[in-house]
Order: sequence, then structure tokens, then C-alpha cells
Amino acid sequence: MEKSVIVEVKNLSKIINGNYIVKKLNFTINRGEIVGFLGENGSGKTTTMKMMLGLTSISQGDVIINGYSIKSNKKKALKSIGAIIETPELYKFLSGYDNLMYFQRMSGRINRESIAKVVRMVGLENVINDKVKTYSLGMRQKLGIAQSLLNSPALLILDEPTNGLDPSGMSELKELLIKLAKKEKKVRIGDSERIVYHERL
Ligand SMILES: Nc1ncnc2c1ncn2[C@@H]1O[C@H](COP(=O)(O)OP(=O)(O)OP(=O)(O)O)[C@@H](O)[C@H]1O
Ligand SMILES: [Mg+2]
Repeated sequence: MEKSVIVEVKNLSKIINGNYIVKKLNFTINRGEIVGFLGENGSGKTTTMKMMLGLTSISQGDVIINGYSIKSNKKKALKSIGAIIETPELYKFLSGYDNLMYFQRMSGRINRESIAKVVRMVGLENVINDKVKTYSLGMRQKLGIAQSLLNSPALLILDEPTNGLDPSGMSELKELLIKLAKKEKKVRIGDSERIVYHERL
């Protein structure tokens, strides 16, 4: 089965005050793959994701997303990505629906169909018109994921997506991610689940 590469991380390093926080990291991710970062606290997982998203500068190396360098062609590279780093950005005084509208308005045209679709995907239909301040943590996580999916990204980057979820929420989220990855149909998930190890330096 043909694999198509969505991300190439090449010799990626982050140096802060002369110290390597991330050192010469190399990996590729194919479409439809689910990849997890495993490493102890402070080993550089969040920093790596932030570099992949252009949220922090890259000291050495590069990240190529869908053929575009995040360093030299950030705008095009970011078109393929949806992300949540640490906690989703949500307005508590707005409803879930209005949060999605607001977010979509910032990034392009409002498309009510795509909003309805992501709400269905994460299973928030019943509470989408309630204010976010009334949501449980798990509902907020799901809304964050819905938001990250709005522009049908080829690559979804989630940092600690199961934070604060109860066991059933965790398995629901896992099912959702598998379902999303399967939609790519390029590779079978069973063959491709893998983990990128990043050892503490
Ligand atoms: N802006 C910064 N200035 C100095 N050091 C930083 C900065 N950002 C991160 N670090 C350091 O970089 C290292 C990696 O942090 P990072 O947040 O990437 O780790 P992590 O693998 O995501 O950890 P966790 O599992 O706790 O989320 C840590 O030692 C942290 O203290
Ligand atoms: Mg982290």
C-alpha cells in the first residue's frame, strides 16, 4: 500500500541558553498514521510540537509539512495542521457553537455544515448551544478537538489530549482519533500505530 508522507522532522534541535532541549530529532509521519510521543516530564515533547507548529523558533534542522517548510513557508505549512497545545483556547462565556463560529471566522469563511460535522464527530450535539463555562473538562477537550478539526487538517497535533478525561472519556477519544485516522484510508491503523521515543538528554 502506498504511503504518503505528511510530516518530515529533520535533524530538529532546540537550544536554550546553550543547552539542547531537543537534540537532532528525525522522524516522518505518513497520512493516516497515529504517532505518540513518549518521554518523561521535561524531555521536550511539547517543545517539539511547538516547533512543528511554528510557535517557537527552530534552532537547527527543519520541519516539512505537506511539502512546505515551517521555517521558510510557514503559512502554507500551517494550512494542513490543526492543533491543541496544552489546553484548548476557548471562550467560557460563549456557547460551544459560538466558539466554533468565532474560531472559523478568524481563519476563513463561516461554513455551518463543517461546524455541524465536527460537532457530530466529537459527539457534543446535545450541549453545543450551552455556554462553555457549564462544560465538564471532558466536554471542553472535545470542543477543543472539534475546533482543531474545523478546517479538515491533514495533520492533527494534540498535546496531552486526554488530560483530565475520565477512563471512558479517554477510550472515547481514542476511538475518535482512530476513526479520524481511518478516514485517510492510506494506511491501516493496525499496521501503523507507533511511538516516537524521545529520551531525556
Ligand atoms: N522557554 C523556555 N525557557 C527555558 N527552558 C524551557 C523553555 N521551554 C521549555 N523549557 C525546558 O525545556 C525542557 C522541555 O520542556 P517540554 O515542555 O518540551 O517538556 P515535555 O516533554 O513536554 O514535558 P511534560 O511531560 O512535563 O509536558 C524542560 O526542561 C523545560 O524546562
Ligand atoms: Mg509537555
